[in-house]
Amino acid sequence: MDLERILFTQGFGSRRQCRALVADGRVFIGGSACTNPDNTITSDALASFEFQVDGTNWQYREKAYLALNKPPGYECSRDPQHHLSVFHLLPPQLAERGVQCVGRLDQDTTGLLLLSDDGAFVHAFTSPKKKVPKVYLATTKHPIDETQLSALRDGVLLHGESQPIAAVSANRRGERLLELSVLEGKYHQVKRMVAASGNRVEGLHRERIGGYGLPDDLAEGRWRWLTDSDLAMLRQG
Ligand code: URA
Repeated sequence: MDLERILFTQGFGSRRQCRALVADGRVFIGGSACTNPDNTITSDALASFEFQVDGTNWQYREKAYLALNKPPGYECSRDPQHHLSVFHLLPPQLAERGVQCVGRLDQDTTGLLLLSDDGAFVHAFTSPKKKVPKVYLATTKHPIDETQLSALRDGVLLHGESQPIAAVSANRRGERLLELSVLEGKYHQVKRMVAASGNRVEGLHRERIGGYGLPDDLAEGRWRWLTDSDLAMLRQG
């Protein structure tokens, strides 16, 4: 693949803009400027291909898989209505190459948000058929009692749904701290389930998707690439 195309696939703008980036001496490979946009890189070299654009290091990735620790006050939409978009927390190249949220979190929900430009991956993780457990920590308005926990485990009927929805698990982690695992990804699902059980969510945080937990060292507002082993963990129920 030639350098111009590599930059294009990685979200550095149009073919023309990528060509200009190289010709202007803003792209470095192995520490030296590479000014020929037609220079080709073999597919073997691509696997470990590192380059610098305007002083920032990049690695070629055929598909982008990311984890973001979402702060409160950000919308998952590219075209947010009342708050900033989570895409403001990512380098513009990632939005440019078509990365999208894998299921949305409300603006006031914090924690693990996945993003990818792999359509099959996004579909697999958002499809109701793919039963991936998602674990949330909800801070509730009232103390959590056994009746509420039983209702959540047995299933609650949400407005507009024909069947009750049951949590995979519902456990009290503190007087007003509920750990809830759900398979679906319906609109405001956790808040509506907790409301239907007779309590109210005042704070919501996603801790885990499948077998992948939000890393302790990923600060709020920061993102990271998912490794192959992270992706394997995600797929574990
Ligand atoms: N359930 C909710 O109610 N809100 C979220 O953001 C995610 C799950």
